[in-house]
Amino acid sequence: MKITVVGSGYVGLVTGACLAEVGNDVLCLDLDPRKIATLREGGIPIYEPGLEDMVRRNAAAARLRFTTSVEEAVEHGTIQFIAVGTPPGEDGSADLQYVVAAARNIGRYMDGYKLVVDKSTVPVGTADRVRAAIAEELTARGLKLHFDMVSNPEFLKEGAAIEDFMRPDRIVIGADSEQARDTMRQLYRPFQRNHERLIVMDVRSAELTKYAANAMLATRISFMNELANLAELLDADIEQVRQGIGADPRIGYHFLYPGVGYGGSCFPKDVSALRRTAAEHGMEMQLLGAVEQVNALQKQRLVNKVERHFGADLCGRHFALWGLAFKPNTDDMREAPSLDIIDGLLARGATVTAYDPVAIHEAKKLLGERIRYAANPMAALDGADALLIATEWKEFRSPDFEAIRAKLRQPLIFDGRNLYEPAAMRELGFDYEAIGRR
Ligand SMILES: NC(=O)c1ccc[n+]([C@@H]2O[C@H](COP(=O)([O-])OP(=O)(O)OC[C@H]3O[C@@H](n4cnc5c(N)ncnc54)[C@H](O)[C@@H]3O)[C@@H](O)[C@H]2O)c1
Repeated sequence: MKITVVGSGYVGLVTGACLAEVGNDVLCLDLDPRKIATLREGGIPIYEPGLEDMVRRNAAAARLRFTTSVEEAVEHGTIQFIAVGTPPGEDGSADLQYVVAAARNIGRYMDGYKLVVDKSTVPVGTADRVRAAIAEELTARGLKLHFDMVSNPEFLKEGAAIEDFMRPDRIVIGADSEQARDTMRQLYRPFQRNHERLIVMDVRSAELTKYAANAMLATRISFMNELANLAELLDADIEQVRQGIGADPRIGYHFLYPGVGYGGSCFPKDVSALRRTAAEHGMEMQLLGAVEQVNALQKQRLVNKVERHFGADLCGRHFALWGLAFKPNTDDMREAPSLDIIDGLLARGATVTAYDPVAIHEAKKLLGERIRYAANPMAALDGADALLIATEWKEFRSPDFEAIRAKLRQPLIFDGRNLYEPAAMRELGFDYEAIGRR
């Protein structure tokens, strides 16, 4: 199939590469010329395990190409995926300017049937707006061309995006026409050879499904964070509680880890956008309001613990921070809790040296010279009063504790990801503060 992917970020690039991998003829469009230049030279602008090889392989086979030409992109694909950003607007709603601009471009240049597939996370009713924008452009050109509109929200997780796309647990398709449904079924057949994973529904329900999924996951995180904070007050251990409830199949073990709050490019903006959508319809989503409040407090949790230990004035104190990315296996720094932790420490007069295996170049764009950066985890510890952990990278799971103790001014760790066993840490001579652990 001839496919165009509009927007070559995390979602667009993964979508384009995976669709090319199974034999499609894919053209990825982005308006950012630097991104396209990097991609054309065989590099990739983001860190995502396995993606660079896949992009290179399919580019070499001429199944995956990149362009900044809107005209060429619209002309190429019978299927036009929209995978542009939907960042939060000032009022918390999803900013649809990029989606609408992409739609207008399609209407401006199409000269035959197109199946327009929205993969961006967009509020209910956006498909109607996209349809109207394309129709308006066609009318302005004096043309009457047929096109279909599909909502196909993306559920991939950064850090495991290739695996998620190649072996999805479900593919949600919101479509009103039989032709569109059939084309989507055909397109996704190679990704579901084992059993059917397509869940077909109406467009508005598909749009809402994406927000419902992210809101549910964010709720689980805030629930566990609040419970962890209570466990500390009650002298109980959240890790034991987690296992005790996770064993119930109605609850399950996934997404029950307390920590330093959720971040990333999706949960914060999607929870906020869903609340906003509800408000526009005269409804207050009280549960999600609480989820956001708990999360905002949790992002301060580690700094509060530091403050309890050292006092409110941290002038002259220096801290090592392991982990900058909002989660492991990505360089994405959007809404990363590490940023709140760094802000909190700096505001109290402390200095920080941070280490992250892949996110330092992204962090530098946001933090510049406000902190120092280390080339490896151990180098970050030099002269630090304590180690703080903000991201659960694998390489932090079993470090050389003797070496850590030797480098820190005092054997003190504030672990925002519960990586270690408190009893074992005590035996090693550490003062160890985790989240909700005894
Ligand atoms: N990142 C994730 O893990 C994830 C997962 C599921 C869904 N989503 C959703 O997918 C969408 C894209 O997210 P992302 O993280 O890939 O964003 P991103 O910011 O990484 O990429 C978006 C890209 O679109 C480009 N762009 C903007 N307007 C354009 C236009 N008119 N024509 C061509 N290109 C244009 C930008 O230059 C940018 O490169 C969002 O709605 C997001 O909520 C993201």
